[in-house]
Amino acid sequence: MKKKILIFGGSGLVGSVFIESSKDLFEIISIYNTNSHQIHNVISKKIDFLNERQKISSIIENQKPDVIINTVAYPSVDFCEFNHNLTDQLHVDVVKDIVSTASRINCKVIFLSTDAVFDGKINKKYTEEDVPEPVNYYGLSKLKAEQLVLENPHNVVLRTAVIYGWHEKSRFTNWILGYLKENKKVDPFIDQFNTPTLVDDLVKSMIKIIELDVSGLFHATGKTCINRFDFAKKLAISFGYDEKLVIPVTSKQKKQDAPRPKSTCLDSSKLENLINFQFMDIDHGISFILDKSRDV
Ligand SMILES: NC(=O)c1ccc[n+]([C@@H]2O[C@H](COP(=O)([O-])OP(=O)(O)OC[C@H]3O[C@@H](n4cnc5c(N)ncnc54)[C@H](OP(=O)(O)O)[C@@H]3O)[C@@H](O)[C@H]2O)c1
Repeated sequence: MKKKILIFGGSGLVGSVFIESSKDLFEIISIYNTNSHQIHNVISKKIDFLNERQKISSIIENQKPDVIINTVAYPSVDFCEFNHNLTDQLHVDVVKDIVSTASRINCKVIFLSTDAVFDGKINKKYTEEDVPEPVNYYGLSKLKAEQLVLENPHNVVLRTAVIYGWHEKSRFTNWILGYLKENKKVDPFIDQFNTPTLVDDLVKSMIKIIELDVSGLFHATGKTCINRFDFAKKLAISFGYDEKLVIPVTSKQKKQDAPRPKSTCLDSSKLENLINFQFMDIDHGISFILDKSRDV
């Protein structure tokens, strides 16, 4: 019998790629808020987590899924910095409801977290053993949620970073490629480092986690530790755009509302070894999306 998956945030970047990739493997119920979607063989329902919170527990109790995936979050780190109350509601209180209801019916929760739980001060890739120390409210709220999720050892936390793909919701790559296509300049940061993650890889790892019934805290990112400027230059070169339009900027030159960690590159080898899977490096990830762009 197929496993039943309830996905919160099925209309987002990770959610929609997960559904597309696994709709034949699993029975899927997808929850969206503002972006409704109709997918063959997938039940979809609207719930606004902020204004209809009681519906979260009811749908879990009614559907009795084997696994819940929660991708719901505010996309903007800067928004979270000035909206603590709303951030706590969506990132922490909702997660508390999900986890407690899921535990009652013995359902695994897979929670998407972030590299922003680290302060970015060490000069190496972070492992799951390193101590989180968020520098902004987004990171703090996700860390609080991680702790709630991991109270049940059957659950999974996946810390990921700068998710990209050939997808309308791939924010960083769409900004860079959209501007360069129109010969406009872009100014990505040269002094913020992450391990960007191909969404298709992240989804493959999630499918394996479900199939193998893996539990625990894992880093789940691409292999290459890179700043946004170098990432953008690689995109320009691969897609045949003018790389001189990519102008480096520092965090001092271009102010952001929320503080950002300098280098939060993650080491994903714990997960890779456990599920026998390798995340792509940045060059293979970019050629993957280039190939996909040619298919369209
Ligand atoms: N994207 C990244 O680079 C990145 C990096 C590190 C970690 N993460 C984490 O990975 C997860 C998935 O990221 P993503 O890029 O797939 O996110 P996304 O594309 O922004 O999708 C977010 C989802 O949350 C839903 N949502 C937002 N507010 C809601 C509300 N009030 N009620 C119900 N649903 C609501 C959205 O629904 P509608 O669209 O229907 O409104 C959407 O389906 C997030 O938890 C994020 O923190 C992402």
